[in-house]
Amino acid sequence: MAQAIVDQATAQQAAMARALEWQAPPLPKVAWGKGCYVYDTDGKQYIDGSAGPAVFSLGHAHDEVNAAIKDQLDRIAHGYRYTFTSDPLEELTAMIGAACGGGLRYMTLCSSGSEAVESCLKIALQYHAARGEMSRRRFIARERSWHGNTLGALAISGFLDRRHAFEGAMMPASLLSPANAYRPPAGVASNDVAAACAAELEKEILRCGPETIAAFIFEPVVGAAGGCVPAPPGYARLARDICDRYGVLMIADEVMCGSGRCGTWRALEADGVEPDIMSVAKGLAGGYIPLSAAIYHERLREPMFSAHGGLMTGHTFTGHTAGCAAGVAVQKIIQRDDLLRQVTQNGAYMRSLLQERLGDRPYIGDIRGRGLFLGIELVRDRDSKQPFSPDLKLHGRIRDRSFENGLICYPVGGNVDGHEGDIVILSPPYIVSRDQIDEIVDKLQRSLNDVMNPILAAR
Ligand SMILES: Cc1ncc(COP(=O)(O)O)c(C=O)c1O
Repeated sequence: MAQAIVDQATAQQAAMARALEWQAPPLPKVAWGKGCYVYDTDGKQYIDGSAGPAVFSLGHAHDEVNAAIKDQLDRIAHGYRYTFTSDPLEELTAMIGAACGGGLRYMTLCSSGSEAVESCLKIALQYHAARGEMSRRRFIARERSWHGNTLGALAISGFLDRRHAFEGAMMPASLLSPANAYRPPAGVASNDVAAACAAELEKEILRCGPETIAAFIFEPVVGAAGGCVPAPPGYARLARDICDRYGVLMIADEVMCGSGRCGTWRALEADGVEPDIMSVAKGLAGGYIPLSAAIYHERLREPMFSAHGGLMTGHTFTGHTAGCAAGVAVQKIIQRDDLLRQVTQNGAYMRSLLQERLGDRPYIGDIRGRGLFLGIELVRDRDSKQPFSPDLKLHGRIRDRSFENGLICYPVGGNVDGHEGDIVILSPPYIVSRDQIDEIVDKLQRSLNDVMNPILAAR
């Protein structure tokens, strides 16, 4: 049947038919890793061009991190939060507080990004409750954003393909236009995106009634749902001022873009803005043990602690002792080896190399990002920015071909409207060398040639 279609079709339809035949191949089994390389059980080597989903900040099997975890496990795996505190827990919270700077000094530690986001939402609700503002229950977020897979985090996420099976069962939330200068809201010029998106936030607060809004949550640099989209300059400051005007808390979701990935410990540092509440996760303990944090400003603490006696959120594994030991080890190495400077410098190198090698291709619409958090957006037409048909499943094909070519990257779809759009995220470990960056870009270039040349030839 598929062969009959190919025989009759025009060249373009043939390309489409082949695309529809594409199916994700079975996954290989991971065996071991070292630094920026991963090996499967067949002995094949992959360079980790995305640190998995932007997680492995120090790469794989770092001897010092493993030794610190083993040392902790040999003493005790976990001191339960209602029974004990611990040295690693106290050391890590002090390190995170110092890295955040300003008033972001308090936190609860959890295990995943979604849990951290849930905790951020609950801290906002608890703060308003403690101040007698029980009407502030609603959250404002943005389309093309991803905050996690638990029901609360999903409710505020604008990632259509991950939401649809759960529609009707999520708390109501307002989802605003993405603040993306490459894809401005309809009728808005690129240069006006910051002002237009900030005005939309204020309009929505007023439409709902400021007394109903608990918080505005956003990713300072949008990760998987947008493809490493930094907010346009000035946007975060305008949003901060609007939140302050209406007593709305600002939550920065830095699960993916934070803990140094963008070259500053807080991604929002680059915008000169301090949120009230912030989530971090992936790079915090670099994937050695699941670890995340919901951090909040000191001014939020007193109302909650005097009304409720403490934070009303937490889990069995909150502040997991071995997890904290992993976090301390990772963060110490990042500081000692001045890795954030390396992230900034090597990020700039990688971005210019991508621009040089790929920037002129007819299907590359945009290369963007911050630090070692870079997104490449594919388009059918550079002038109109029209995306490829989602039926081509381009991002899946690029992921698989890269994999065959020994490159782990992070392609995602749906960045344009939830269904259309193809992006490739590159976010290697902070320790990546220039030679390894060259290898990543070479392999991506080859993989894009393999996937795109037949499609271009069929046009
Ligand atoms: C910005 C952001 N927030 C939250 C999450 C959810 O994190 P997790 O998958 O660890 O639950 C993610 C995951 O990709 C994320 O990128």
